[in-house]
Amino acid sequence: MEVKERALGELQQAANLAELNDLRVKYLGKKGELTEIMKGMGKLSAEERPLLGQLANEVRDAIGAILEEKKEALEASALEAQLRSQTIDVTLPGRTLAKGNKHPLTQIIEQIEDIFIGLGFEIAEGPELETDYYNFEALNLPKDHPARDMQDSFYVTEDLLMRTHTSPNQARVMEAKQGEVPVKIICPGRVYRRDDDDATHSHVFTQIEGLVIGKDIRMSDLKGILLAFSREMFGDDVQIRLRPSFFPFTEPSAEVDVTCAVCKGKGCRVCKETGWLEILGSGMVHPKVLEMSGYDSEKYTGFAFGMGVERIAMLKYGIEDIRHFYNNDIRFLRQFNRR
Ligand code: DAH
Repeated sequence: MEVKERALGELQQAANLAELNDLRVKYLGKKGELTEIMKGMGKLSAEERPLLGQLANEVRDAIGAILEEKKEALEASALEAQLRSQTIDVTLPGRTLAKGNKHPLTQIIEQIEDIFIGLGFEIAEGPELETDYYNFEALNLPKDHPARDMQDSFYVTEDLLMRTHTSPNQARVMEAKQGEVPVKIICPGRVYRRDDDDATHSHVFTQIEGLVIGKDIRMSDLKGILLAFSREMFGDDVQIRLRPSFFPFTEPSAEVDVTCAVCKGKGCRVCKETGWLEILGSGMVHPKVLEMSGYDSEKYTGFAFGMGVERIAMLKYGIEDIRHFYNNDIRFLRQFNRR
């Protein structure tokens, strides 16, 4: 039968499942060629009919078998092509995501915290909106004390102000400890002053307060702790020196200098040819301050210190303008991306 040869030939050529389906319809469908032949059998004689019927059935079965076979082959190669196109190369290197970094001030605060934690200190924190009592009174700065002028303040009400330093936490910590010793804390935080902003002043800046109270705490302990801190922070070869100073909440009081990190003490522009850089204020806690917060000044002594974080960072990294810390210039901030 001519139809058989043609159908089988065309089936072999079918390139995909859609073409194969078209061929099935063409030959075996309701109006397919073979179907038409079978429909026409009624016109044949009684002798011819069974012969043609048998032949037509054979051809239909043969086409059906090839169709099935071809379909399986096409499906298998379609699956293989899909798998091949979707293969993942697990050896390709990944894309790195751009990561930010902590703000340089945060990094410095954490570094300073780590150093003092290593020296046995704990971290305490207090409010930025502070009462007149804690900010001044409890630090031996009564209402009309002239030293209040050293720190121009942002008052919010008669009795509330933005804290001008982190020292109010000395009184807060002592009250919370209720006369217990030892007290050994540092307190980082933001402070506020009515200053005009320039290269070295900012109306908001960051301080870290330190307070140690116990039996027989001496000025030499203060010096030892601050020397250990300075060497961790600025390098093993730095020296410190204490200069007499005045703070109402300490007696005696001292300002502390470290040898200039830039010239190593020889004298340069950064240290104004002195070889020293001032890093903090400190002293032995004034007996009145101890007493006001519930510590017996006959039994206990202590020392305190307060440092400016921006200043430390500026000295350590040679930053010339404090405003860099607040302007959020990505080019500045990125330099502190240490990975
Ligand atoms: N509170 C002082 C300031 O802001 C810094 C300071 C000096 C803190 C001496 C202290 C200290 O604890 O003992 O200028």
